[in-house]
Amino acid sequence: MPEFPAEPNIAADADAVVLVGGKGTRLRPLTLSAPKPMLPTAGVPFLTHLLSRIRAAGMRHVVLGTSYRAEVFAEYFGDGSQLGLELEYVVETEPLDTAGAIRNVADRLRGERAVVFNGDILSGTDPAALLHAHRDAAADVTLHLVKVADPSRFGSVPTDAAGRVTAFLEKTPNPPTDQINAGCYVFSRDVVDAIPAGRPVSVERETFPGLLESGARLHGFVDSSYWLDVGTPAAYLQGSADLVRGIAPTPALPGEPGERLVLDGASVSSEAIVDGGSSVGVSAVIEAGARVSGSVVFDGARVEPGAVVTDSVVGRNARVGAGSVLRGVVLGDDVVVGAGCELLDGARVWPGVAIPDGGIRFSTDV
Ligand code: GTP
Repeated sequence: MPEFPAEPNIAADADAVVLVGGKGTRLRPLTLSAPKPMLPTAGVPFLTHLLSRIRAAGMRHVVLGTSYRAEVFAEYFGDGSQLGLELEYVVETEPLDTAGAIRNVADRLRGERAVVFNGDILSGTDPAALLHAHRDAAADVTLHLVKVADPSRFGSVPTDAAGRVTAFLEKTPNPPTDQINAGCYVFSRDVVDAIPAGRPVSVERETFPGLLESGARLHGFVDSSYWLDVGTPAAYLQGSADLVRGIAPTPALPGEPGERLVLDGASVSSEAIVDGGSSVGVSAVIEAGARVSGSVVFDGARVEPGAVVTDSVVGRNARVGAGSVLRGVVLGDDVVVGAGCELLDGARVWPGVAIPDGGIRFSTDV
């Protein structure tokens, strides 16, 4: 006989909805071949970290709202059983935006509550705690709000002493609160059903302001846990390095946290340096004298002798020629950067482009 009656498992009874239909334009050209949530991040597709966290919270049933490159998700994750999940896929024929995507999966929801996750957020918050807060506040929607050091870069979401959301404020230079929308919500079932069906609807621009206006109970769950929106190349690299180093929590890291993650089948010369939370993909090669820092080297890529790759992404099967320098750069798949090139700060090279030896420099050659 258990000493205490078993607590109903609020997480197991809730559905998870993950929005993965965005085009990921800010991450082009990487998102031309793979949707943003499938980009290799600390050794696995980004989404694996989120799905593992959902599973660790005790949730089982997950619905992916897909649109752009929808087929890629099912091909990789299948029915979800390898992650201990039951995964379903719903495809939008036209992108329905965030709230439209939530409404579009309504007929798959089984419980009274759904936890909705933007598929491009790396976060340390506990979805089960969010669900408890939602129930205790008898809320219609509970928003995860995260405190950030520089809230002027985001819209902010003030709450009153009881945690009730009082406004959704646009970006301003001096926001009255450091709380921002963290892209994770609990929706009560009837609120999902009330979203207009069959047309694009935005949670931030339409659904939440409309609910506030109509007097619905919007509750803010505020914390200061790890949080990062990996929408840009710099943020993607930061997220990947934080996962590799164990700064961002994940149950899905394929190895021990450390200064680098080298996947099975990769080859790193003993005379190369790989650090700063870099990851090196399957069959990738880092040759003698090369230095790779704070970077992601995709499967099959090659960094040749003496090349220096810092805060950069080297796409699948791309090649960085001997002695080249890359800093703050994104190379698409199959790019060839010849020897002795120098690419800096924000350069994005489209898939398949070949730059000849010494073909681009930002300084004179030495
Ligand atoms: P950018 O084009 O670079 O802004 O990226 P994005 O298209 O992913 O847009 P954004 O970062 O604003 O999207 C936030 C989250 O909502 C991401 O997880 C997207 O995958 C998801 N999302 C955005 N639009 C849609 C949509 O129309 N349908 C679905 N299912 N998901 C969407």
